[in-house]
Amino acid sequence: MRVLVTGACGMLGSLVCDGLGKEHHVIPTDVLSGCEMLDISDTNAVFDVLNRIRPDMVIHCAAMTDVDGCEREPDKAFKINAVGTWNLACACASIDCAMAYVCTDYVFDGESGVPYTEFDQTNPISAYGASKLAGEMAVREICPKHYVVRTSWVFAPHGKNFPLSILRAAQTNKQLKIVADQVGCPTYAKDLASFLIGLVGSPLYGVYHYTNAGSCSWYEFAKEILSKAGMTDVEVVPIKTEDWPTPTRRPKYSVLRHYRMELLGRDSARPWQDAVAEFVAAWNTAKQ
Ligand SMILES: NC(=O)c1ccc[n+]([C@@H]2O[C@H](COP(=O)([O-])OP(=O)(O)OC[C@H]3O[C@@H](n4cnc5c(N)ncnc54)[C@H](OP(=O)(O)O)[C@@H]3O)[C@@H](O)[C@H]2O)c1
Repeated sequence: MRVLVTGACGMLGSLVCDGLGKEHHVIPTDVLSGCEMLDISDTNAVFDVLNRIRPDMVIHCAAMTDVDGCEREPDKAFKINAVGTWNLACACASIDCAMAYVCTDYVFDGESGVPYTEFDQTNPISAYGASKLAGEMAVREICPKHYVVRTSWVFAPHGKNFPLSILRAAQTNKQLKIVADQVGCPTYAKDLASFLIGLVGSPLYGVYHYTNAGSCSWYEFAKEILSKAGMTDVEVVPIKTEDWPTPTRRPKYSVLRHYRMELLGRDSARPWQDAVAEFVAAWNTAKQ
């Protein structure tokens, strides 16, 4: 199959391209050089590229992912995350191409005390969440062959992510203060990439939740990362959200239940602690 990937230079997109390369013809695109240039917010460019390349599927990983940046510049966030995604949904529909859209736990308000299913009511509380939900609605309304995959707390041995920041900070600090009253599901980008690649050619369109199995607070996540890295001499101090002020309100509890895969009997996500172990091993190898 011919699979076009947006955001192919990003943390997730690069792994999707690596995985697809083994079985499919992959066309990586991004705003950065090194692959086919495609700014998803440029409507004409999106239609031109899709009409020329005629992919069977688009895996859409491009986004404005700087959550605080989205809060400061909501128009930019909506231009990329909502209008950019809408452009792709329209172009995909016009050539009968399938589309997988990577969405986020930030579509929920985080006020529920129980895990969110794919069937629960969305209610974003940030510009990032609202712009990503607007993109999701466009995909669901416009592109008949769509997969929406909501995920959270994505990490990899490259890119910008929480575990890498923790390991870097632990090299120079003996004490780290970490928020303990926000709970979510860590997701290893490599596992998420495999899940997305598994959707290629599937007739089971619709909305999915995919994360690693289990949930934790940022504090518990940090403790596990440092433990697996053997950096147990670093003290981790639990703090409250209000002690770490940011421009963006974040969901307090955004655990995503993989309800659709559970009901299909196909939920095979591995525990987040196993993914952290693999991440630390890859990080150690990259250091050498
Ligand atoms: N990271 C997480 O924890 C997380 C959680 C839930 C959902 N997600 C979703 O997962 C997807 C992948 O996230 P990620 O963490 O891999 O993000 P990332 O590393 O920031 O990658 C996104 C890529 O998209 C590019 N991009 C930005 N604006 C673009 C535009 N107008 N046209 C084309 N490409 C553009 C970025 O380029 P620049 O770097 O130059 O901006 C970057 O290469 C996103 O849809 C994100 O919303 C991520």
